[in-house]
Amino acid sequence: MTDLDPTTQSNYNQVYTEHVSFNWTVDFESQTISGNATHTLKIKEDEPKEVIFDTLDLEIKGASVAGQTTTYEVGEKHPVMGSALSIVLPAGLKAGSTTTVTISYKTHKDATALQWLAKEATSGKKHPFLFSQCQPIYARAVTPLQDTPSVKITYDAKVASTLPVVLSAIRVSPPSDGPTHDGKALGKDLVSYTFDQPVAIPSYLLAIAVGDLEYRAFPQFEDKQWKTGVWAEPDVIEKAYWEFSEDTAKFLAKEESIVSNYRFGVYEVLVLPPSFPYGGMENPCVTFLTPTLLTGDRALVDVVVHELTHSWFGNGITHAHASHFWLNEGWTTYMERLLQQFLHSPAHRGFQFAIGAKALKDSLKGYEKTPKYQRLLIDFEKGEDPDDAYSSIPYEKGANLILHLERTVGGLDVFLPYIRDYVETFSGKSITTWQWKDHLYQYFEKHGGPEKVKSLDSIDWDAWFYGEGVDLPVEMEYDLTLAKEAYDLASRWDVARNVSDTSRLSFKESDIEKFDTNQLISFLERLQTFSALPGNLVEHLGSLYGLSTTGNAELRFRFYENALADPSSPSAKTFAEEAAKWVVGEDATAVVKGRMKFCRPTFRAIAKVDNDLAVKTYTPNKGSFHPIAAKLIEKVGFVRSFGWRKAIDEPGNTGSWHRSVDVFVEPRIR
Ligand code: BES
Ligand code: ZN
Repeated sequence: MTDLDPTTQSNYNQVYTEHVSFNWTVDFESQTISGNATHTLKIKEDEPKEVIFDTLDLEIKGASVAGQTTTYEVGEKHPVMGSALSIVLPAGLKAGSTTTVTISYKTHKDATALQWLAKEATSGKKHPFLFSQCQPIYARAVTPLQDTPSVKITYDAKVASTLPVVLSAIRVSPPSDGPTHDGKALGKDLVSYTFDQPVAIPSYLLAIAVGDLEYRAFPQFEDKQWKTGVWAEPDVIEKAYWEFSEDTAKFLAKEESIVSNYRFGVYEVLVLPPSFPYGGMENPCVTFLTPTLLTGDRALVDVVVHELTHSWFGNGITHAHASHFWLNEGWTTYMERLLQQFLHSPAHRGFQFAIGAKALKDSLKGYEKTPKYQRLLIDFEKGEDPDDAYSSIPYEKGANLILHLERTVGGLDVFLPYIRDYVETFSGKSITTWQWKDHLYQYFEKHGGPEKVKSLDSIDWDAWFYGEGVDLPVEMEYDLTLAKEAYDLASRWDVARNVSDTSRLSFKESDIEKFDTNQLISFLERLQTFSALPGNLVEHLGSLYGLSTTGNAELRFRFYENALADPSSPSAKTFAEEAAKWVVGEDATAVVKGRMKFCRPTFRAIAKVDNDLAVKTYTPNKGSFHPIAAKLIEKVGFVRSFGWRKAIDEPGNTGSWHRSVDVFVEPRIR
């Protein structure tokens, strides 16, 4: 495994960017961002001939070095990595020196990183909306850069827009808490927004959102320098404020007390339209969130714990490249659960691990045909798509490895000081698994000596890093106190399967009265481990507990997973139709379930029951999904080919050309 990033064509080893100044205009009419980017480059090796940036579908208009026009070349497009942009550098540049390169360019209207929403697809329906998703390798569709987390850049930006702009940086002017759009007319007047990101960040953390966005500050902690707050569309802001105002600053303060000071000055959350493909994305200064978290009961705020934890693990200490992705997500998941323990109880931490174990098992099973992706450390080939490997594995295998370490070296008393040392040592850097492991050994050699080193040696590192198959190298034990009631209820449903007259069953609405959302999740997941419930029971389950109509997508989607578990049953047919309507928002929820965690497995489950229904549902609604979600649904989800073909081979054909979608079922998680 090389230490070089397999997903970039840039020559960051010879010359790398330290700082970028962006000057952009956002145009909703043409659905493009245009302008220029000025890179401050540091020369690493004497006399580099050129600097090579990554680009994806960008229209390059010109380039200059230190103010002088220069020649450049856009290479052939690689399907995953995009096109290399090589810019000729003047002769005589010595290692250690710096120079500047300016590129003027325009984004493509179908840029993978960007979703341009028509006003109808927003909550307010008055203005269009734009947002980005750059992780893992889509920043290159927004701007030319060395799109690798091995390079960390600071940036400043000036963005002209007719709607308010949010970037993954501190907004300098107009101030976030001033009048919206500087008091000018939304959708008409061009306002110049300026930003500064003085902390060096990897390219995948570049982010932009533009739309009818309002800001509300959360109550400020007197003893803290940082501020927290929320961005959302005007008709969502109340709900969003309510959901997150209680906990955000509290979580951040707690994390600081466990680890170290927060480095990014502000921590805001932005609630996006429903096509946002993730639960959350840890963009610095402003975490992007799915609106499916707005359940009205603060049940899903854990996602905020996860994203703000990335401020230290991921945004602070960054994985060097895709092979070491687990350092970001595994550490974050471990820390997120540690925070649960400090905020609530050890049982809460155990419960999260128990829920995670199910996701891990599903992911591992989903990759049985590609065991390479079952590994914690993945040896990507040059140009392999990191999205193909995206699953719960780096999260859960990673978190379990750290938990196993914590237990092996003697528990939290010795582990917490180690965590602090780890963060202090590597914050601001990009590292590989080997650097992490070396530091671990060095730390415990210093703080504990041979006995601790021996305990570290007892860990089967190869099994953790390269192990394949559906089991962890160690059988892990978790505190199952909170899971128990959920498991018991699931068992009661399991044994009730032979009762055909549901009126004779003793289940009551109150069975779940005391359950929180996690217990309901756990209950529904436990049910899935038994053989599929008969249709009448699924029906009863859905209506008695309100699961077939709940507005909580985490529950609704797991209910459908149970309902569609036996694809050949008549009831699965009915529920597949309901699930299809739900996933594209043609039901009472009226919003698309763009979060990939929900839409991909739902489409897959529907496809197993009724292929045509999946195709018929997806095809006309493709445009409602984010380009990344669409790409993954089509690529590895359930759609095999997507192209033009003659309908000649179909019954009742007309012989005309039409767009076709073939569907097959391949279980993949997340
Ligand atoms: N950084 C990830 C999202 C991500 C990973 C986007 C890789 C693109 C490529 C984010 O922190 C995350 O893990 N989100 C989770 C939420 C979480 C609570 C596990 C999600 O979206 O499900
Ligand atoms: Zn994460």
